[in-house]
Amino acid sequence: MNKPFSHQRPIQALPDQLISQIAAGEVVERPAAVVKELLENALDAGATQIAIRLENGGVKRIAISDNGCGIPHEQLPLALMRHATSKISSLNDLENVVTLGFRGEALASIASVAHLTLTSRTADAAHAWQITTESAENGATPCSGDTGTTVEVQELYGATPARRKFLKSEQTEFGHCAEVARRIALGRPDVRFTLAHNGKTIEQWNAAEPVVRSAQILGDDFAKARLALDQAAGENGGGLRLHGFVGLPTASRMRADAQYFYVNGRFVRDRLLAHAVRAAYEDVLYGDRYPSYILKLEIDPALVDVNVHPSKIEVRFRDSRAIHQFVLHSVSRTLAQTVAKATDAPVSGTPPASAGTMPWIREQRQTSFGVRQTTADYGALFAGLRHTDTPQTGEMPFFPSAADETDPSSTQEANPLGFALGQLHDIYILAQNAKGLVLVDMHAGHERILYEKLKNALDGNALSIQALLIPVTLSVTEVEAGTAEEYRETLQTLGFDAASLSPGTLAVRTVPALLRNSDIPALVRDILRDLHEYGISALASERRNQMLATLACHSAVRANRTLTVPEMNALLRQMETTERADQCNHGRPTWVQLSMSDLDTLFLRGR
Ligand SMILES: Nc1ncnc2c1ncn2[C@@H]1O[C@H](COP(=O)(O)OP(=O)(O)OP(=O)(O)O)[C@@H](O)[C@H]1O
Ligand SMILES: [Mg+2]
Repeated sequence: MNKPFSHQRPIQALPDQLISQIAAGEVVERPAAVVKELLENALDAGATQIAIRLENGGVKRIAISDNGCGIPHEQLPLALMRHATSKISSLNDLENVVTLGFRGEALASIASVAHLTLTSRTADAAHAWQITTESAENGATPCSGDTGTTVEVQELYGATPARRKFLKSEQTEFGHCAEVARRIALGRPDVRFTLAHNGKTIEQWNAAEPVVRSAQILGDDFAKARLALDQAAGENGGGLRLHGFVGLPTASRMRADAQYFYVNGRFVRDRLLAHAVRAAYEDVLYGDRYPSYILKLEIDPALVDVNVHPSKIEVRFRDSRAIHQFVLHSVSRTLAQTVAKATDAPVSGTPPASAGTMPWIREQRQTSFGVRQTTADYGALFAGLRHTDTPQTGEMPFFPSAADETDPSSTQEANPLGFALGQLHDIYILAQNAKGLVLVDMHAGHERILYEKLKNALDGNALSIQALLIPVTLSVTEVEAGTAEEYRETLQTLGFDAASLSPGTLAVRTVPALLRNSDIPALVRDILRDLHEYGISALASERRNQMLATLACHSAVRANRTLTVPEMNALLRQMETTERADQCNHGRPTWVQLSMSDLDTLFLRGR
């Protein structure tokens, strides 16, 4: 229908109003974006208390009041002008900007697509002053009001119905606004925020320590399973600092909806940073789970460009490699804290590992933890207990024979996982430590140990290879045989020598020594499947580690295998010295602590 070029009009400069409306399309595409801009202005003004009031998801009305520095009345009309700002005045200022705003565009854009009222009072003024979109030209009029600023935005996109149609339901728009409020409140726990919708108070966050604010906003699951982090690099202020909280794998989620990253106080969604964090979690989180975190990066503003995105949600670092490395290492160092550290010397703000892994204790107390059920449960518990003198069933080659550590009292300190009491249904190890009872998922724990060993061996080129006296043969499909041939070298790097013996048969002559006792045909088939699927990228670190995890899982001691007490103790000792041993490769916990007081609670003792 349209013939764009046949009636081309002459080039002409656009009127200011239209320029603002075009800009508004990018800057304030929905109510949540208005909320973001107004909150940022309030924070830039030094506010310590901010109230957000919304109606109809913010479409009908957004009112944000702050107790910041206010705007002198003669400057009020300027605040609504395009390209008018108090925050920068030179290129040098822009390059070192520390405020959230700097373009002088937000209020002008909002005013071009909604009815805006700006009320403000500075500390030394006798009363407040007000302007509206329509009256701006005539200057401000006196009115009542406290020190600070209130911006009221009504009927967003009311005059541009085509645009308004893009807005979603009231509830959806409110959801986006609330998410913006959460984001900003998480970034500034020192500021009090309230959020009301249609006259009802929805959130109220008083000024608090970061540990409190983040628990309020991200909830119990996160609060119970997180590690505090505060790492610095570089010296004399020219350096970097990363602080905040990283969720343990038990706090991971199905969606990437609890990931908050701030750069110099600004919430950003940055691929480089997200990648660095993801990579740090690689060893503890597999599959489709997303880590939860709140991370704040402080960096010399001259080393980061914040002027690369219309809503400033992306940034560009001058030295992105260095930042990537710093974030990756800071997070993985935090996640690598071993069992011993997590229990005996908690990282600041970290609850004991038991808290996050035993929600059932509270549940049981809330539901009727009746006598009948109790009896039944405990009957099963004792029926499954095996004691020290359980006869040894065959060879148990997984663990080196444990040293004789039969005197628990002398070594309690050095052995946070305690000493084995017995095995429950051949699945769990029960152990006693200074605090009480430790329950260990023996398969998960062993899997983690094997995985770390494999990875360290491959990384350090120190994989020891076991030649098999009698080659193991397995029948393979054509695809598998082809893959084995194509990736022969890759397989050798991993410790496997697998060559075709005859069409349809593969002979395996060597395996990694660590895995010599596993189901070798199954292992080899798994690797071939991965190699076929991922090709050479199978050796890229992420895939490779995934593959190692599969191998470890296959080779770890199976549940339903009876262990002797020395074998159990050997496993506990190895877990203590293995990094990240408190999570298995699938992110599940490998052990839980039931302290004496947890047990007392179960028995309603002392109440
Ligand atoms: N809540 C407030 N308290 C005090 N001053 C404010 C407030 N909101 C706006 N201002 C003043 O109005 C000016 C214009 O605000 P506006 O948001 O349009 O631009 P900006 O914050 O400077 O830049 P940006 O477009 O990047 O947000 C600000 O520079 C500031 O001086
Ligand atoms: Mg602004």
